[in-house]
Amino acid sequence: MEKLNKFTKIFKKIYYETFIENFKGKLQLNFPSNYYRWDLVKYLIDKYKYSDYLEIGCDQDQLFSKVQIQNKTGVDPVSGGNVRKTSDDFFKDNNRKFDIVFIDGLHTYEQVKKDILNSVNCLNNNGIILVHDCMPDNLSKQAVPRYRMLWNGDVWKAIVDLRQDENLEIFTCEMDQGIGVIQKKKNSSVLEIDKPINQLKFEDYFNNYKEYLRVISVDNLKKKI
Ligand SMILES: C[S@@+](CC[C@H](N)C(=O)[O-])C[C@H]1O[C@@H](n2cnc3c(N)ncnc32)[C@H](O)[C@@H]1O
Repeated sequence: MEKLNKFTKIFKKIYYETFIENFKGKLQLNFPSNYYRWDLVKYLIDKYKYSDYLEIGCDQDQLFSKVQIQNKTGVDPVSGGNVRKTSDDFFKDNNRKFDIVFIDGLHTYEQVKKDILNSVNCLNNNGIILVHDCMPDNLSKQAVPRYRMLWNGDVWKAIVDLRQDENLEIFTCEMDQGIGVIQKKKNSSVLEIDKPINQLKFEDYFNNYKEYLRVISVDNLKKKI
């Protein structure tokens, strides 16, 4: 993970707040304290009897080591998993299909959108893509370029962008930093927004995140998928 010294953090924070956005609101998000990403992954593997798991961005294998499944592939250029590559390099050469993909690599809009679309292309028909870090609660956690260690990035913009795709059904589960849940099927609630993605600010997300992301509780998600 990228190291940030104190000077770099302060410099990037001032730069961001001066030239990009300065907004002080903080969301009160209801992430359950007893249900995490590994619980959702296990729930889906058990429910659909999945056998092939892909994780993009594994770090210290916090999730990867807990996943119990027949075949698992973990891609990270630095640590963890079992394939030492960036996601772009992995997808370039990959010709395998997966039932469940967990995307948690580089948390920028452009990279996450690419990771999602590449995952869609190698997803089995009844498969599910999960995307971590979709729900930052304040500006500093979503700022790109990054200036703090605890960071969600602007992953939420990739969800907002693809919520406009007619062929992807997407929810965002209010748990564990916000988990995007994507299925390859007709979008039953196409998002309409009046701004291009590159003009969206954290303040827009703050005011509209429930609609933008189609936020859903864990209990309601389990009734839908
Ligand atoms: C937040 S950590 C992953 C945490 C882990 N999935 C978990 O559940 O706790 C992000 C990881 O993404 C990796 N990463 C960064 N850029 C990447 C890329 N282009 N492709 C794949 N992984 C990347 C980093 O090396 C880091 O280990």
